[in-house]
Amino acid sequence: MRVKRAMGILALAALGAAGAAAAPPAAGGSADDARVKARVEALLAKMTVEEKVGQCEQIAGAAIFPGAPKPDEAIARGAAGSLLWLNDTKKFNELQKIAVEKSRLGIPLLFGLDVIHGYRTIFPVPLAMASSWDPSVHERAAAVAAKEARAAGLHWTFAPMLDIARDARWGRIVEGAGEDPFLGAAMAAAQVRGFQGPKLGTPDRVLASAKHFAGYSAADGGRDYDPAYIPDAQLHNVYFPPFKAAVDAGVGTVMSAYMDLNNVPAAGNKWLLTDVLKRDWGFKGFVITDAMAAGSLVTQHFARDRKDAAFRAFTAGNEMEMASGPYPEHLPALVKEGKVTMAQLDAAVRRILEIKVRMGLFENPYVDEARAAQVIGAPEHHAEARLAAQRSMVLLRNEGKTLPLSTSLKSVAVIGPLADSMTATEGSWMVFGHTPAATTVLAGLKAKLPGAAIAYAPGPEIRRDFPSMFDAMFPGGNKPAQSAADADAALQKAVEAAKGAEVVIAVMGEEANMAGEAASRAMLDLPGRQEELLKAVVALGKPVVLVLLNGRPLSINWAAEHVPAILEAWEPGSEGGHAVADVLFGDVNPGGKLPVGFPRSGAQSPLYYARTTTHAPDGSPFAGKSRYWDVLTTPLYPFGYGLSYSTFSYANLKPAAAQVRVGAKVAVSVDVTNTGTVAGDEVVQLYVHQKAGSDSRPQRELKGFRRVALKPGETQTVTFTLGPDELRYWSSSQRKWVQDAEAFDLWAGGDSNASLHAEMTVVPAAAAAARK
Ligand code: NOJ
Repeated sequence: MRVKRAMGILALAALGAAGAAAAPPAAGGSADDARVKARVEALLAKMTVEEKVGQCEQIAGAAIFPGAPKPDEAIARGAAGSLLWLNDTKKFNELQKIAVEKSRLGIPLLFGLDVIHGYRTIFPVPLAMASSWDPSVHERAAAVAAKEARAAGLHWTFAPMLDIARDARWGRIVEGAGEDPFLGAAMAAAQVRGFQGPKLGTPDRVLASAKHFAGYSAADGGRDYDPAYIPDAQLHNVYFPPFKAAVDAGVGTVMSAYMDLNNVPAAGNKWLLTDVLKRDWGFKGFVITDAMAAGSLVTQHFARDRKDAAFRAFTAGNEMEMASGPYPEHLPALVKEGKVTMAQLDAAVRRILEIKVRMGLFENPYVDEARAAQVIGAPEHHAEARLAAQRSMVLLRNEGKTLPLSTSLKSVAVIGPLADSMTATEGSWMVFGHTPAATTVLAGLKAKLPGAAIAYAPGPEIRRDFPSMFDAMFPGGNKPAQSAADADAALQKAVEAAKGAEVVIAVMGEEANMAGEAASRAMLDLPGRQEELLKAVVALGKPVVLVLLNGRPLSINWAAEHVPAILEAWEPGSEGGHAVADVLFGDVNPGGKLPVGFPRSGAQSPLYYARTTTHAPDGSPFAGKSRYWDVLTTPLYPFGYGLSYSTFSYANLKPAAAQVRVGAKVAVSVDVTNTGTVAGDEVVQLYVHQKAGSDSRPQRELKGFRRVALKPGETQTVTFTLGPDELRYWSSSQRKWVQDAEAFDLWAGGDSNASLHAEMTVVPAAAAAARK
């Protein structure tokens, strides 16, 4: 069913032509709030039930289901509050004109689209942006995306995706910030600030949507859309923090998730959407379902029929419904029957209208069609994209200082199926076109080495074993498979190219359609014959550099031992090829760190560093690193890991006081020194471990990080704060938030295996006061 629907999305996509904290909507009782409320109440008083329900419906930009209303008709009737999957500036104005001038009350539409990592100027995918460990870069990227999207006529992006992903098999790991809630929360707030600006309605910014609330990433077996079973403590401590951070940063909308969470669909989950999000966190914006998710409540064997689905999705707390129709079909009747009260309907419409008023849509419903061309793809946007790509790259291996390469090289072989792949460079979600097109790694290398002979040979093609329902969106996504003979010849050609070169740069990984929605994998190795080609060129005994383009961690076990230099470039966006060349040739010293550990095998998933330990006495078979007999328990590369062309050392980790009382804050400082010969960035990371507690505590948790730039020989003291926000947790045994008075280990360093250690103790608030 979902496949069919998604095909509709594809058709639609094909039809498409074409910074500071935001105040939460309706926060407090300012004059502005009073103005907003008065306007909303005046409108509400005039609206019929059907018009109210209309505001709660987001329709598709073209009729994609048989019998679905044509957008213009629905808009003229006041039967649509928002529209998605359209990307056509002129059309936006035409449809808005119908809403404003032809519908009875003239309420403007909100135009929404997935602007995930750039609109036309494409930034690195979110997982890569998280690798920068620099929230300010992510904030600026979101601001550029917002500016371009707004210039094109969009008001609303369905981003950021805030699902903490600990299972690299899950394809949508590419859209988020990785495995850690602390890093994820920092990136969440940064993106909300970037998209929305200081407050809703800021010029050149868009409304953001924190998605998918909640637990989507914990799908059983990493299989997209499958159910998630997540204990409450994990929800509160791991999956919720980025959403809470987004709400605190003023995110205007939240999108509920598709899947069953502990046997209650997220889209029908009143506890999630009403109790946690609105009651406990004070979220004042509105919730939208994911596409077709209300109708899916029937498929999930939760709702009896579409009427019941409308009732359950609406009363759970989804004010707006995305594109499947049960609201307009059944909400009016449910109101007439008294099953949904007028007060409930009004409360939902109020939230939607408040956002529209705050976004300034009533004053400025139209987009200036002439301005789009000046704003979109501006040179300064590309400069930001290049910087973001440079900062997000992670150096995984560099034996014998293979990197940086010398620009006096005379001959280079560039091999691998992704070396000249525009799609793999741009990455996931590029369904709405690009101008100008991305610089591939091959093009970036050619630009960097104008005088060198560059031999390019892609080797055998790679493809998904089973096509994606989204494949039609990617150029060549559905092309026929290469024959075995052609693949053999391509492999030989690539080896021959390598033979004639001083250095081999292999660009490998995953094509864009191998990660993302409906793109889960069981295995995490290099797809196709890439490793075979890699082995053949490494056997030549020349310097080989592996540049990875991919949207998820990969189990590159053989390469990690045999390829001298490995650069994780992710899906680096419009300027990706230039940024790769900048790093390979030393114009930029890589300083990114992994926001997710790399498993040795897909079968290790879910895998994360912040786990609790169980029964591991010294000398027991489980004490060491293996709880499997065929693969180590540890990741291939740990969370937080990344090398530099320089080296760093750490010293003097100390809390300002050895004891801190419950509820109080303590500063923790550490010295970091650049011990190498070149300037470079290091991401200083602080991990804590509570030695005993109300519940078993994870062996380490990230509670502070800062990316610092250091000249050779320079030392900086980096100071973090630990307080109740960092030290409390939601306890399974207490069924509430607790901060225990217990002893803590602290570690600081450049990854999650950091060894510099100190200790501190949290003492009861009363005891500390008594001692004074
Ligand atoms: C489905 C995806 O799950 C969601 O992330 C996206 O925003 C909507 N479709 C709209 O395209």
